[in-house]
Amino acid sequence: MEETAKLRGNYRNIGPDYAVEQRWAGYTPEDHALYRRLYERQSALLPHLACAEFNTALAGLDAAKGIPRFDLVSQRLRRATGWEIVPVPGLVPDEVFFEHLAHKRFPVTVWLRKPEEFDYVVEPDVFHDFFGHVPLLFDPAYADHMCEYGKGGLKALRLGGLKYLARLYWYTIEFGLIKTEDGVRAYGAGLLSSGGELGFSVQSPKPARRPFELMTVMASDYHIDSYQDQYFVIEGFGQLLEETAPDFTPLYARLQQQDKAAA
Ligand code: PHE
Ligand code: CO
Repeated sequence: MEETAKLRGNYRNIGPDYAVEQRWAGYTPEDHALYRRLYERQSALLPHLACAEFNTALAGLDAAKGIPRFDLVSQRLRRATGWEIVPVPGLVPDEVFFEHLAHKRFPVTVWLRKPEEFDYVVEPDVFHDFFGHVPLLFDPAYADHMCEYGKGGLKALRLGGLKYLARLYWYTIEFGLIKTEDGVRAYGAGLLSSGGELGFSVQSPKPARRPFELMTVMASDYHIDSYQDQYFVIEGFGQLLEETAPDFTPLYARLQQQDKAAA
């Protein structure tokens, strides 16, 4: 990711791992109020649209009043699953991102969107990263999966498999749906933090909702600037763990072959 310099966020004081101080005291009352409005809109949608694991974890988080202090959440997260939050200025290079995940550190962007970006923000901000990603890190199965994903990312970089692994991340961690007793629900952070796409993904007749199948997912392109036209539905986090456990080396080779043949 060579364009790091053009990214939104202040990269002047980063450490070698891109970590910065959260500088919680620097958030304004307006920032906290905007976060609270985002939180209130999303949490009203959750009972019927989010998976139970997420709802349970969020309820235990006490993160409704304003932008949370990462250090306090990390203390509890460490006790629950061994994870912690790393404050970052914004997007970080792939290798840095995967290194963090592999060490059970989840990078969370420190800046909050502007009020005029209430409905849509191009790059992930603190609301997306925190509200969307952090709650499920309290779930042991999900938390383990994220750590494995980080190790898998470092491996994908060595094997030229990043494009395929990024699709998997997109269709699971960001935009994944899950089957539950109460019907299909969202577990992907991109959905859970979105005012519009959360309901769209679960309830609209428009998009396709296909059963999760690893190779299909890794062969499926996605778009970043509109709602998805397809979502993949897992049977449970167990399925995600099982299907992603095998060595991806031969899978990347096959996908690269397919791409070459199609070119
Ligand atoms: N099993 C994958 C590999 O060998 C790594 C991985 C684990 C990827 C979990 C995604 C999620 O490359
Ligand atoms: Co995200």
